[in-house]
Amino acid sequence: MENKRENWGSRIGFIMAAAGSAVGLGNIWRFPYLAGENGGGAFIVIYLMFVVFIGFSIMLAEFTVGRKTGLAAVGAYKKINRSFTFAGVLGVLSAFFIMGFYPVVGGWATAYILKSFTGLLSDPAAIGDMFGAFIGNPVEPLIWMAIFLAINIVIVAKGISGGIEKAGKILMPTLFVLLILIAIRSVTLPGAGAGLDFLFKPDWSVVNGGTFLAALGQAFFSLSLGMGCMITYGSYLSKSENLPSSALTVSLMDTSVALLAGVAIFPALFAFGMEPAAGPGLVFVVVPQIFAQMGGLGPIFSAIFFIALMVAALTSSVSLLEVVVAYLMDERGWARKKSVYLSGAIMVVTGILSSLSLGVMSGFTLFGVGAFDFFDILTDKIFLAIGGLILAVFVGWFMDKNELKEEMTNGGAIKFGLFEFWYALVKFVIPIAIAIVAFFGITGIAQTSLMLFGLAVIAVLAIFSKKL
Ligand code: TRP
Repeated sequence: MENKRENWGSRIGFIMAAAGSAVGLGNIWRFPYLAGENGGGAFIVIYLMFVVFIGFSIMLAEFTVGRKTGLAAVGAYKKINRSFTFAGVLGVLSAFFIMGFYPVVGGWATAYILKSFTGLLSDPAAIGDMFGAFIGNPVEPLIWMAIFLAINIVIVAKGISGGIEKAGKILMPTLFVLLILIAIRSVTLPGAGAGLDFLFKPDWSVVNGGTFLAALGQAFFSLSLGMGCMITYGSYLSKSENLPSSALTVSLMDTSVALLAGVAIFPALFAFGMEPAAGPGLVFVVVPQIFAQMGGLGPIFSAIFFIALMVAALTSSVSLLEVVVAYLMDERGWARKKSVYLSGAIMVVTGILSSLSLGVMSGFTLFGVGAFDFFDILTDKIFLAIGGLILAVFVGWFMDKNELKEEMTNGGAIKFGLFEFWYALVKFVIPIAIAIVAFFGITGIAQTSLMLFGLAVIAVLAIFSKKL
């Protein structure tokens, strides 16, 4: 235990790694298709509200808890209040479950790098069907998923500053520049205006409780919140770092990439006469169509885009794997490599189940959904939001207000004028808001049974927390 904790190499290294965790498939794959399914502009307004009033505050709270304790999620909760150990373990479980489907989509992105050169772009009209055939194939997506997961395992096995930091620093800016280029192309296509209207002219008639929960879940997912990821990252942070400004920078970067992805996709989607509610295939169908129209350079741009998307996914998935690994190291005293290989092996199995659930195993359901949706709905709509609620209650009601202020202002060295406002949000507003949204946002039999199942899991964890 007396080992000096590994630390981020530099301030910018931390910001890039935390932003790397936040910016990922959530922004580029998930945000556009959720916005498309939930009516566009109205969803985006609600989403932005949640990012500002809930996401930012929770991120700051997670950084603070992590740095104050210098421990990953489970250890951090345990150190401050033993009865909250379960909240940390819930986070580790969430990390496992997100990694149950994330590498599948990461694998799709990886596959599309190669596919850019092997005929993906040759017949624009067939791109949608090709995607459907690809993800339903029983073998091909499994191989790509395994490749994606293997890269994760290698990076995390090498340790925090060695692997994660370097990967993030180089390729995140590339992705950003590419998205800007695609967005410019997209808005200049004939007929693009309808897409901008869809994005920025909210149609409130389509909003219901489900829209709010989708937006809340997406805010947590996209900012990597509600499961101790940012607690873990914060635990590697030096005492001189400015926490509020770090949280602000990361939230802003994450949100701008999501909005940029929306601007890149929807104008083109409408210009091509496609359906906004097309679901999880959106980015894999619309973006290649844009490149297909470019002629000779299309495949090269397409490959660069999917390389950047894969790396964005990687810098996120390594943060998920790191949560699990940090737990095994801190709490179980395992070596890094052993922790990585064992958890990686389990993720190969869950990844296979998820991928197959979109094809040959689609008849195989649990609570009315396949493995992919099971992991997705359970984390995004249930565990993350409730994890955030528990964290807010924990910070607001079980931690000392003055100590929080000390930690957040580096002992008075920096100013944080919004402290009282933040504190009131975390203590009162956020727990109530999340409870209301979760209660009214769950729709249909499948989601309701998943919610009950999720709550039962949390209850079991809470009861056995002394043993965790
Ligand atoms: N935020 C990442 C994305 O948008 C995914 C992710 C990484 C995540 N770490 C997380 C989501 C922790 C929830 C919790 O792709």
